Amino acid sequence: MVKIDFGGVLEDVITRKEFTVQKAQEVLKDEVVVSLGYGIQGQAQSLNMRDNGIKVIIGQEKEGVFKKEWDKAVADGWVPGENLFPLEEAAKKGTLKMFLLTDAAQKALWPKIKATLKKGDALYFSHGFSIVYKEQTGVIPPADIDVILVAPKGSGTSVRRNFVDGSGINCSFVVHQDATGKAMDRAKALGIAIGGGYLFPTTFEKEVYSDLTGERGTLMGALAGILEAQYNTLRANGHSPSEAFNETVEELTQSLIRLVDENDMDWMYCNCSETARIGALRWKERFRSATQPVFDSLYELVAAGEETRIVLEKSKAPDYRQKLADELKEMGNSEMWRAGTTVRSLRPEKPKKQE
Ligand SMILES: NC(=O)c1ccc[n+]([C@@H]2O[C@H](COP(=O)([O-])OP(=O)(O)OC[C@H]3O[C@@H](n4cnc5c(N)ncnc54)[C@H](O)[C@@H]3O)[C@@H](O)[C@H]2O)c1
Repeated sequence: MVKIDFGGVLEDVITRKEFTVQKAQEVLKDEVVVSLGYGIQGQAQSLNMRDNGIKVIIGQEKEGVFKKEWDKAVADGWVPGENLFPLEEAAKKGTLKMFLLTDAAQKALWPKIKATLKKGDALYFSHGFSIVYKEQTGVIPPADIDVILVAPKGSGTSVRRNFVDGSGINCSFVVHQDATGKAMDRAKALGIAIGGGYLFPTTFEKEVYSDLTGERGTLMGALAGILEAQYNTLRANGHSPSEAFNETVEELTQSLIRLVDENDMDWMYCNCSETARIGALRWKERFRSATQPVFDSLYELVAAGEETRIVLEKSKAPDYRQKLADELKEMGNSEMWRAGTTVRSLRPEKPKKQE
């Protein structure tokens, strides 16, 4: 661990300098690491581990709606019968079981996975959901195994992309139960092996509360909602789709958010006009006070278990996959995002790099 100053608050973190990939290989050399699930996280984490020299096997259902993911694993070079197996068969082989099914499927499949746990195994999560809301999920691990978490703070797509480009996605990590005395090393080794940027400590509870708040809030829910609201206002006042989209999304993604990433919000403000700065500083206050109660209520509902209850209830419905797909289709087919497709198609092509 190394102490780092985060805006005046000292925190312990782990970087690849303190815990190298070689160390991760050493810690994991006698383990059978199994990714239970080859979804967005399962694919990214296991490919990164494979490229980092860790022996991994995949557990993935093969039939019906799950064939898509089985085929994806085969296309990625996993070999059926060698390092790709149906879920339970793979779970039986693993000593370090990475529970990377959807959170609802973790609840449904728990009795089967629990039956494969042997004394000294480790059960790994990338989300605190199943453990924290155990009254809703029934996921209560036996006392003779390690229970650990590494939660990437990004989509699995970015976990893979950033690994490939040499950077990484930061991850939180924690040991919930240390039955073997090796749990902390196992967690750190996995965090580094899956391509974590830096690793910061959390608890299962803090991880799930912050994650559910973040994705419902600024990362996804609030983001989509506020973009739609501004676009609608511009359109209702006679602005063209091109103008409304450029002023709402394109300028954000192509220009301003990149400046925020580069050097924070004040830097982005400094690189905009004085007119923009004066107005934005005033309106930031109004937006913050309008949304603060919404965020406070969101956090309360998360902590009360209401958000997870809704997820578990909705995902039980026989037509839920179709309903989710329909809702996303409706979003994608809205005028704003159709305008987005057109705007992207009009972006000048970047010149190809010279070999
Ligand atoms: N997606 C992300 O970017 C992300 C980020 C951080 C943490 N997480 C966490 O990682 C874990 C995995 O999430 P994901 O987004 O990769 O999920 P996903 O939906 O992409 O994949 C889920 C996997 O579960 C399997 N599955 C689903 N229902 C099943 C069932 N009834 N029986 C058997 N298998 C079933 C699928 O075949 C697939 O392999 C979750 O705990 C999630 O909260 C996800």
